[in-house]
Amino acid sequence: MSTIAIYPGTFDPITLGHMSIAQRAATIFSPVVVAITEMPDKEETFSLKERYDMVFEAFRDNDNIIVESFSGLLVDYVKSKGASVVIRGMRAIADFEYEFQLALANRKLSPSIETLFFMTDNEYLFISSSMVKSIAKHHGDISSFVPHHVAYKLHTHFADTREK
Ligand code: COA
Repeated sequence: MSTIAIYPGTFDPITLGHMSIAQRAATIFSPVVVAITEMPDKEETFSLKERYDMVFEAFRDNDNIIVESFSGLLVDYVKSKGASVVIRGMRAIADFEYEFQLALANRKLSPSIETLFFMTDNEYLFISSSMVKSIAKHHGDISSFVPHHVAYKLHTHFADTREK
């Protein structure tokens, strides 16, 4: 029996930490839908289309990982996919309060949806999209944090921004 799971986020941009969570989830659930959305109160670096393209490329070789984008409430999107499992990654205690709030709010909105947490691999514990962007902005080496195509995109983006 295959059970669909949704892994939502802004993925601005996707990191190796996110990839590790999705790929581990895909050993248990099938398919895993990596679902990209906008967060109006978060200033995004890359457009939805750019983030989608980067995520799509990241999972090109993963047969049971699908990439989609959505707008509106996560619970409505999850229901529209006929799913009842949401995957989130937990990096450290610092993530707990935010993730706890998110999971409880989603449960209140839709009690049939369960949020499951995957502990992030040790090597990715400290990675965040903002941190990677900050390093890229200052010409630092981000090759151990993001896939090659994302590193290229980040360096191009910040080079273009500097030229303007
Ligand atoms: N590896 C690397 N980074 C990770 C990570 C991992 N395993 N897990 C989390 N992160 C980082 C991200 O890089 C991101 O860093 P940043 O803040 O520097 O950009 C941060 O943790 C959180 O990002 P993400 O996991 O993508 O979550 P989010 O907070 O951007 O997304 C949504 C939250 C989209 C799931 C949530 O807002 C949502 O469901 N929105 C839809 C609307 C809705 O339903 N709202 C009501 C919800 S109660």
